[in-house]
Amino acid sequence: TGPDTVSPTGQPTGADQARMAQSGSYLTNAQGTRLYDTDHSLKAGPRGPVLLQDHHLREKVMHFDHERIPERVVHARGAGAHGVFRSYGTAAGVTKAAFLAEDVETPVFVRFSTVLGSRGSSDTVRDTRGFATKFYTSEGVFDLVGNNIPVFFIQDAIKFPDVIHAGKPHPDREIPQAQSAHDTFWDFVTLHTEATHHTLWNMSDRGIPRSYRTMEGFGVHTFRLVDAAGGTTLVKFHWKPKLGVHSLVWEEAQIANGVDPDFHRRDLADAIEAGAHPQWEFGIQTFPDTPDQTFEGIDLLDPTNIVPEELAPVQPIGLLTLDRNPSNYFAETEQVAFHVGHLVPGIDVTDDPLLAGRLFSYLDTQITRLAGPNFGQIPINRPHAPVNDMLRDGFHQSAVHRGVAPYRPNSLDGGCPFTAGADLGAYIETPVRVPEATKVREAPESFGDHFSQPRRFWLSMSPVEREHIIGAYTFELAKCYEVAIRERALRVLANIDPELCAGVAAGLGLPAPEPSEPLADVEPSPALSQVGRTWPTD
Ligand code: HEM
Repeated sequence: TGPDTVSPTGQPTGADQARMAQSGSYLTNAQGTRLYDTDHSLKAGPRGPVLLQDHHLREKVMHFDHERIPERVVHARGAGAHGVFRSYGTAAGVTKAAFLAEDVETPVFVRFSTVLGSRGSSDTVRDTRGFATKFYTSEGVFDLVGNNIPVFFIQDAIKFPDVIHAGKPHPDREIPQAQSAHDTFWDFVTLHTEATHHTLWNMSDRGIPRSYRTMEGFGVHTFRLVDAAGGTTLVKFHWKPKLGVHSLVWEEAQIANGVDPDFHRRDLADAIEAGAHPQWEFGIQTFPDTPDQTFEGIDLLDPTNIVPEELAPVQPIGLLTLDRNPSNYFAETEQVAFHVGHLVPGIDVTDDPLLAGRLFSYLDTQITRLAGPNFGQIPINRPHAPVNDMLRDGFHQSAVHRGVAPYRPNSLDGGCPFTAGADLGAYIETPVRVPEATKVREAPESFGDHFSQPRRFWLSMSPVEREHIIGAYTFELAKCYEVAIRERALRVLANIDPELCAGVAAGLGLPAPEPSEPLADVEPSPALSQVGRTWPTD
């Protein structure tokens, strides 16, 4: 349904190709009229006043005046790359998704990002990283909008505005621009102890990746896969970098920050240009889709939980290769619009309350960021599958729709019967039974354990990783102006581990408090440590 000047892969063709490549033999205005001069405005004499009738000056400056669009409300700074995903077929038994059948190749676009900094902030800050993948499958677009940390700060999307307000720069001074070292952030994460696990990952080496090429990625939520017979399996998605997982140490990150604030985006672009195409293996942890949606006592709907790989190994299902840099940052990396609701048959959502809010939020924010409801027509966002919708008009409509009856049923535009039923490849929501319930604003009891998973993470760290974590908490908390917040943070750390709490307390020159609840009795998960990891398996 797009304009004829763009090919199905989003590449401009014909006359637009020349215009977009700035390769014509002469310059024109936006209407294609040839110009003879674009360096001088029209004046009454060489030293006289500029004339209002200079329509070329007005068009040129008017367009420039409107070049900026709002940056993303979160994940504003990013770097993208094109690539290909090849499926091994090993997930074909649990999902009917066509792009996960054996040996299917699917074009992808990936955008990596930091979360809190503005579009012009530095790359090597301590922060979570986004890892968002758009699969242009034969059955429509599937977006996996993940992070490099497998858990999230909050369990319910209604708190997302709060956690982001706390994490963004202080409203009065706009300090800090990119990092987590400030009072509002620490105020929030110590008052909302469900944030403890994500915060601990941030304070670990995972908070300062060496390169986008050496980051793991996680879908975070539990998703539901559906097979051809309607059978369902709960899964967590993983990306495992072929280069292994590597981080910067704090001092390296600081130097890189100053010497090259574009350290990560340069590394990605240079590697791809040099032919060192980064690769990730795609994997799933699978869990039976039981009515209670727990696995080994872990609530799968709580996004502050991981399932240790020792309990549910990650099974490889495909390979992602990034092999082409964007040719235009704005057109591709800036205008790409990911959405957790971009799903294909065979992949469904669960009742994770954080995921529910995301299903609303992405489309909503993109209406502002990309100015209207037609951003799906921007070349980078176009599905490679045929589109035959009944959405019409609106700002930035670039399709010239044919037909007279954009509604159905109709008796005027024949053809195109409604497709119904799984056998015709339609997307069908899993008929999950919703138990009879009373409306409440409350969290389930199973969301109440905020310390056992952070404790498992801490116990899984090697000595050098623990040293880095203590150093990170000490540095960050020392930046808090409010002593009460530092003290509250120590009370949270005491519930994770006494060694961690004592180390940070010593660094801050404060007494180490006792835990307020018994320490959880958990086994370490060696797969969580970056030292001695066994992935990649080959
Ligand atoms: C953007 C991941 C939770 C709202 C992003 C991006 C990623 C991401 C990777 C950047 C996408 C890009 O590169 O364009 C996640 C993960 C979450 C999470 C893994 C939790 C598991 C949430 C929640 C909300 C939310 C709970 C809101 C209720 C947004 C918004 C954007 C965004 C508004 C900007 C999108 C745009 O402007 O295109 N998120 N997010 N996120 N996220 Fe999330």
